[in-house]
This record gives sequence, structure tokens and C-alpha cells, in this order.
Amino acid sequence: MTAAPNPIEQSFELAASRCVDLSPQVYHRLFERHPETRAMFRSQGSELVMGSMLALAIEAVLDFAGGRRGHFRMITCEAASHEAYGTSRELFISFFAIIRDALRDLLGDEWSPDIARAWDALLVEIDAFAGEPA
Ligand code: HEM
Repeated sequence: MTAAPNPIEQSFELAASRCVDLSPQVYHRLFERHPETRAMFRSQGSELVMGSMLALAIEAVLDFAGGRRGHFRMITCEAASHEAYGTSRELFISFFAIIRDALRDLLGDEWSPDIARAWDALLVEIDAFAGEPA
């Protein structure tokens, strides 16, 4: 028997049934809110890097909200390495809220109070966790 998905998993599952690739929604928001980030990505092959960054961030979030088997540790590691290439902690952490907002828009009526609460709590936890040393 598989366990019922937690509200965070549920939000990604519902999104996946509506949209194959979250990348355009997420990066459109990122570049709108933080236009300076557009120039941070390489001009050639950036789609691959951006797709892979998002996939790894989602894997880390799902693990952080779920079993904490290992991928969640990427959050502190990447927060540290991104600082080295000019992404402040604050900006780094804002990526998770951008993912949440992209999911919320995609889900529309299916964005339940349970999912909203779980994301609010998760973002507070990630904020505290990402501030810790890797
Ligand atoms: C707004 C916040 C963020 C910005 C501006 C940002 C920026 C970047 C940039 C510019 C690169 C490309 C470096 C290159 O060209 O080699 C990159 C790569 C990467 N980022 Fe981020 N990042 C952010 C948030 C995150 C988060 C939250 C995670 C995961 C927890 C993450 C994980 C990664 C990984 C794993 C790569 C390497 C991708 C690959 O080449 O496979 N980033 N990031």
C-alpha cells in the first residue's frame, strides 16, 4: 500500500496532470520579479540548465516535505554555492515561493486550503533551514 500524498506532493501531482513542464511558468515569474536574474544564466544552453535546476529544486522540496531521505540537503548546499555566483540567500529562497505561485495559478480551484497552509508552513521552514550552514 502506498501512503496518501502529502499536500505538497498533491500540489505537484495536480499540476503535472495539467501541464507537462513547469519551467516556462516558473522562469517567466522569476524574470518578471527579478529581472536581474535573466543575465545570470548563460546565453547558450540555458534552457537545459534552467530545466535541470528546477527539476532538482522540486526534488529537494518534495524530499524536504516528505521523507527527508537526502535530496533535501541540496537546499543548504546550493544556497551556499549560489552565493558564490552572486545569488543572495534571499533571492535563492524566493525561488521556492515562485514555484508555489506557479502551482497556485495552474491549480486554480484545486488549490485547496490544505495545500495553501502546507505551502505557507513549508516556505517558513525552508527559510529557516536554508539559513543554516551546509
Ligand atoms: C532565484 C533563485 C536562483 C537563481 C537566480 C539561480 C541561478 C542559477 C544559475 C545562474 C545557474 C547556472 C549556472 C551555470 O550556468 O552553470 C544555476 C544552476 C543551478 N541551480 Fe540555481 N538559482 C536559484 C535557485 C536555485 C534553487 C532554489 C536550487 C535548488 C535547491 C538551485 C539549484 C541549482 C542547480 C542544481 C544548478 C546546476 C544545474 C545543472 O547544471 O545541472 N538553484 N542556478
